[in-house]
Amino acid sequence: MKKFLLFLVFIGVGVSFQSCTDEVNSEVYHYTESEITTLRQTLNLPDETFDYTVVANRPIPGFNPDDPFHKATLGRVLFYDNTLSVDGSTSCASCHKQEAAFADTEKFSEGLNGQVGTRNSLPLGNTIGFVKYYGTDLTFQSGFFSWDEKFVSINDQSEAAITSPIEMGHSMWELATKIKADEKYKILFDKAYGGNNPITEENILDAVTEFVNSLSSRASKFDNSLPTAPNFGTPDVFADFEGFSPSENNGKRLFNANCSSCHGSSHNAIVQSSANNGLDMVYADKGLGAKEGLAYLNGVFKVPSLRNIELSGPYMHDGRFETLEEVIDHYSEGVQNHDNLSDALKNPSTQTALKMNFSNSEKQDLVNYLLTLTDYELVQAEKWSDPFK
Ligand code: HEC
Ligand code: HEC
Repeated sequence: MKKFLLFLVFIGVGVSFQSCTDEVNSEVYHYTESEITTLRQTLNLPDETFDYTVVANRPIPGFNPDDPFHKATLGRVLFYDNTLSVDGSTSCASCHKQEAAFADTEKFSEGLNGQVGTRNSLPLGNTIGFVKYYGTDLTFQSGFFSWDEKFVSINDQSEAAITSPIEMGHSMWELATKIKADEKYKILFDKAYGGNNPITEENILDAVTEFVNSLSSRASKFDNSLPTAPNFGTPDVFADFEGFSPSENNGKRLFNANCSSCHGSSHNAIVQSSANNGLDMVYADKGLGAKEGLAYLNGVFKVPSLRNIELSGPYMHDGRFETLEEVIDHYSEGVQNHDNLSDALKNPSTQTALKMNFSNSEKQDLVNYLLTLTDYELVQAEKWSDPFK
């Protein structure tokens, strides 16, 4: 409850969350005996559904606050189901693995028939971090998901994965037809959506979104070390944390001085949505530049969340760096003077690429700080794990 409170305070939503969580927690869902017998033929589901409240119940547009139990449970089954790919080989989890904070440890993920894409899979542990890019009406939002920000929502991103000929290769219609013939889905969709025709293309995507949103957990050392904020204010992320070692606190200082203008200090929201961070002088993948056909966006990519960064390597859109040490070396000495390089990475007087020139111990401090962003609950909890037997 405390974490949920903090979380709401963070995103600045002043609602009566006390009554709202109590209400949800008192509702416990059971399956009938015959339902559970059918489900348990293929799935390891508990008698009572897990509670995905932390995020699924937050009052933010596009995040469906009405059912943190059955929709996310259904979403979990869909997320791990190889049936989502046309040849039964690939699920969302093939490229978004729990142990890797829902990213892929491979540079490029394998999709249908061994085909690989050209981008590193993005971790899914902080979709809430992009919440400021969601407005009251999703249709008027610019994109935020994927490395070149081509999707406005997780629904759209999921649909693209399902229908991509190199990822899963289904049409949504074919997939819905397949799912309609599956006894376990009849039960799961009925619980989640009810009505006469609960298995629709729209509901498939909605349930997957519910599950993905629920992954935005907040149980890292960083979160657990945040000082208590007075009067429900925002906790002070700049003061030294009591629970941090001197090295972690110094890493935090260095991060807030050099990195937070893009990645943010609270790790709950990205400050700058996209940037060129000087990886190359000439980019093979032009990112937003290719998507928009605009030269001034060449080499500009989404600024990713750094939550769980320890587990989600390799790093950058093309997975070029294996370790966090290599990433820090890049920012310390390797930033390229590309025409589109972000001002935040330029020396203000010369207007050329900044060399941060961290000492070895500063580099270690930065790495130690980044390691405090790992939420081990996210990668271990059964409620986010593969439910298939
Ligand atoms: C074959 C591998 C593969 C499969 C299967 C796959 N993804 Fe992805 N996913 C990726 C890659 C690679 C990216 C980055 C794409 C890009 O930038 O163009 C990505 C990006 C995303 C993002 C954007 C995250 C962000 O922070 O911008 C979401 C959300 C996502 N995937 C959800 C899903 C869901 C849900 C499924 C199943 C319906 C799925 N993916 C299936 C590889 C995959
Ligand atoms: C100008 C904005 C900006 C600043 C300042 C910045 N970054 Fe980044 N960072 C980015 C962008 C953009 C990417 C993705 C680039 C790409 O893949 O092409 C990125 C990627 C990363 C990644 C890899 C994430 C992943 O999922 O692959 C890490 C780790 C990282 N930055 C850490 C840092 C640290 C540490 C600092 C400070 C020393 C820093 N960043 C400063 C914009 C910035």
